[in-house]
Amino acid sequence: MKNNSSVVFVCSNCDAQFTKWTGKCLECGKWGTVEKSKFLISNDKSSPNDQTEYEPIKMTGLEEVDSKKFARLKTNIEELDRVLGGGLVPGSLILLGGEPGVGKSTLALQLAALIPHSLYISGEESCQQIKLRAKRLKITGNTLKLGNATAVESIIKTIQQQNDLPLTPALKSGGTHDPSLFKERAGRGQSTNLVVIDSVQTIYSNEVEGEAGNINQVRACAVKLLELAKATGKTIILIGQVTKEGTVAGPKTLEHLVDAVLYLEGDKYHVFRILRAAKNRFGSTDEIGVFSMESHGLQEVKNPSEAFLSGRGEPVPGSTVTCLMEGSRPILVEIQALVTKTNFGYPQRRASGFDLNRLQLLVGVLAKRADLPLEAYDIFLNVVGGLEASEPAADLAVVLALASALKNKAISKNIAYFGEVGLGGEIRPVSQTEKRLNEIKKMGFEFAVIPHSKNTTQIANIKIASVKNVKELVEQILK
Ligand code: TYD
Ligand code: MG
Repeated sequence: MKNNSSVVFVCSNCDAQFTKWTGKCLECGKWGTVEKSKFLISNDKSSPNDQTEYEPIKMTGLEEVDSKKFARLKTNIEELDRVLGGGLVPGSLILLGGEPGVGKSTLALQLAALIPHSLYISGEESCQQIKLRAKRLKITGNTLKLGNATAVESIIKTIQQQNDLPLTPALKSGGTHDPSLFKERAGRGQSTNLVVIDSVQTIYSNEVEGEAGNINQVRACAVKLLELAKATGKTIILIGQVTKEGTVAGPKTLEHLVDAVLYLEGDKYHVFRILRAAKNRFGSTDEIGVFSMESHGLQEVKNPSEAFLSGRGEPVPGSTVTCLMEGSRPILVEIQALVTKTNFGYPQRRASGFDLNRLQLLVGVLAKRADLPLEAYDIFLNVVGGLEASEPAADLAVVLALASALKNKAISKNIAYFGEVGLGGEIRPVSQTEKRLNEIKKMGFEFAVIPHSKNTTQIANIKIASVKNVKELVEQILK
């Protein structure tokens, strides 16, 4: 008997494929994630597909391509527009991911309410529940339409049936937010610009086997919605849950399919939320949006430095301030260190908002180059406010926070620090010195301690001290 197809086994965690079932994925090491795939691979070389007549591709000159289709719709949520690279691109599929409870549905609903004639389709919450949330957010009866659905085919039909009009010439040529344009467009036919689907884990396609949320379903639904977005010119926002371990099939596997991936990060017990683009076909992935979760929804944080420093009290040992560049924006954050004598066993090191390996390295540098006996101490480091200090510019403030905590000496609240620390204990310059100094000045600091460089930057009304190595730094500041 001729075998013209073979079954593949696919890992739902990492997408690895196997010819035989295995209990443990040989690629990612996860147990129980390998499943028989619903897709069959054809081995039959004489399959009719091979005789298909293919048309040559129609090529277009670069200059002839109409770029106006990329005109963006400003959402008027500045923090969101910045992350998107200037606004929503018509015909794009955006994945909005985040842990449960972080505020994805809230953000999507607030956005949907701002763009006229949006559709909000939920497979998670009933229309009544969404209405309750809208009340809380003080979104009143406008043109927003709600619906419940889980079958992707019926979602597609709903979206296709929306009364469509071609983009108005004005909307085609400009990217600016002009409410009158929307009104004009809306008035003529109530065309939908934005569709929110909450969430990808709850929808399924009839054409694919398996329960909603499994990897094949998630991928098939996303592909269909992507085609729909391209065909109709509507922006589709697809919400997806990710757990702390990132194990749930979904967002991670979708990243390469969709046009943009936005992650809403932040601890649900803290007020700040950071919106970050992990991928963006139409803009940079450096920018972040800062929000705070209030009783009436997510509010934009226009001055993140002020917000992140707002809780600072009297000077305490182990507290310093640094300036991070998040995309084009300088943001001041407080770094806190706690250093206590190890009572038992190995010394502990814990970091929140800072890379643990980097912390270990800086502890080593301090011990070796500044003779601080940190090896006998437990160390805890925290970047206040939930921001991730992944830039080396934070090193200087971290090192000083550790030294200050160890010596139990508080440092003046009026100083901010930035600079990279090398393995030799040397302090290296970082980019965008001037921008950082201006922000430090703007936030009312009197001093800035920065790396030594040949052409020292001078900024009016702020005293600048430059340092060459950690030993000098610790000796001068904690003398
Ligand atoms: P939600 O948007 O449902 O999160 P997700 O869709 O990411 O799971 O937000 C849930 C949390 O946000 C919930 O714990 C309550 C809080 N919240 C507020 O603090 N203020 C508000 O106005 C709203 C709507 C929610
Ligand atoms: Mg939700």
